[in-house]
Amino acid sequence: MSTVTVVGIGADGWGGLPRNSQDIVTAAEVVVGGQRHLDLVPEVPRQVRRTWPSPLRDGLAALLAQYDGRNLVALASGDPLLSGVGTTLVELLGAERVDIVPAVSSVALAHARMGWSYESTTIVSLVGRPVDRLARHLAPGRRLIVLSADETTPAAVAALLDEHGMGEAEVVAWSRLGAPDEWRERGSAAGWSAEVATLNLLCITCPADAPSYGLTPGLPDEAFEHDGQLTKRDVRATALARLEPRPGQLLWDVGAGAGSIAIEWMRAHPTCEAVAVEASPERAQRISRNATRLGQPQLRVVTGAAPDALTDLPTPDAIFIGGGAGRDGVLDACLAALEPGGRLVAHAVTIETETLLVAAQREHGGQLTRIWIESAEPLGSMSGWRPSRAVIQWSLQR
Ligand SMILES: C[S@@+](CC[C@H](N)C(=O)[O-])C[C@H]1O[C@@H](n2cnc3c(N)ncnc32)[C@H](O)[C@@H]1O
Repeated sequence: MSTVTVVGIGADGWGGLPRNSQDIVTAAEVVVGGQRHLDLVPEVPRQVRRTWPSPLRDGLAALLAQYDGRNLVALASGDPLLSGVGTTLVELLGAERVDIVPAVSSVALAHARMGWSYESTTIVSLVGRPVDRLARHLAPGRRLIVLSADETTPAAVAALLDEHGMGEAEVVAWSRLGAPDEWRERGSAAGWSAEVATLNLLCITCPADAPSYGLTPGLPDEAFEHDGQLTKRDVRATALARLEPRPGQLLWDVGAGAGSIAIEWMRAHPTCEAVAVEASPERAQRISRNATRLGQPQLRVVTGAAPDALTDLPTPDAIFIGGGAGRDGVLDACLAALEPGGRLVAHAVTIETETLLVAAQREHGGQLTRIWIESAEPLGSMSGWRPSRAVIQWSLQR
């Protein structure tokens, strides 16, 4: 099978392309790209020109098969591997069958215009992603570079910043970076109303005194909307310590309640994924609300009771059973799903479930821990320790 060459092209168009890239495009038998990119490239006799199929992923394999053996060049904006079609092609064909010829990316141009180093910024793409994902990256004094989906993104981002107490954030919107008519709008998030091009990118400075949550698991209980069915802060932190989130890994949060374990698992790294399984439809909706507000709108929520609801889920790297460990078949189904290296943490507050966990530990090994949190509270004119219900935790590494 033949290779595909992906040529990056900047907003300055054909004239801004190095000679080498121009030659690659001119020599191509087939050029594939968005209409905007195809319009930038001079016509060549007998060259076939095709726009991207829609939906892209489904149509791409057929399009590539149609021109297999021909010299095919794809056009992308800037660096094709930055939130671009280069990534899709590599996923589809493998890196050895895709040659990438990058141009200067919009992010590189933004860094240059702002005088910001790469090391001092977080880069977030909202292309094809919900704006709420930005919430995870908000932190006092932090610089963010945000790739917009279109001209509606800046206003949506400004509203999100405002909602999170960051109305004072400074936003610089760059339109058509690198083009002769490039322009810049600057303002604070609160009251943002500037006009931008479809092709735009945001440089944001979060206010230094903005409210935000810390990086380690164990967010305050108030961070979550809940009806009491919430793994409380200190207990949650120990569960996550034993679940050990790692980049790209998947967690099942079984009996998810308010979804706090799944959400904190995902906050550990942008590539962490989770499925929250919750029998109550009302709680399932609450989990989605919590996930969206805390920057994890991509959390998958399955409304249904375990073990049946676990049947078709993708293989997990870790499993948390916060509710329902005592229900018939739940523990067995979770243990069966756990692959070598996988971690399981199950909590019990009833004697019946505790008995089950003790038996499971005898059979499978792992660690039993009793967590009994006492918090100081006013007692008359003095203070005293108020104990919470003890939680029995069984943790296992396969
Ligand atoms: C699918 S991403 C592609 C990024 C591209 N691969 C790059 O290297 O710049 C598209 C987003 O990148 C940003 N972008 C790309 N070119 C831009 C430009 N010339 N000016 C401003 N933003 C640009 C916009 O946020 C746009 O919605």
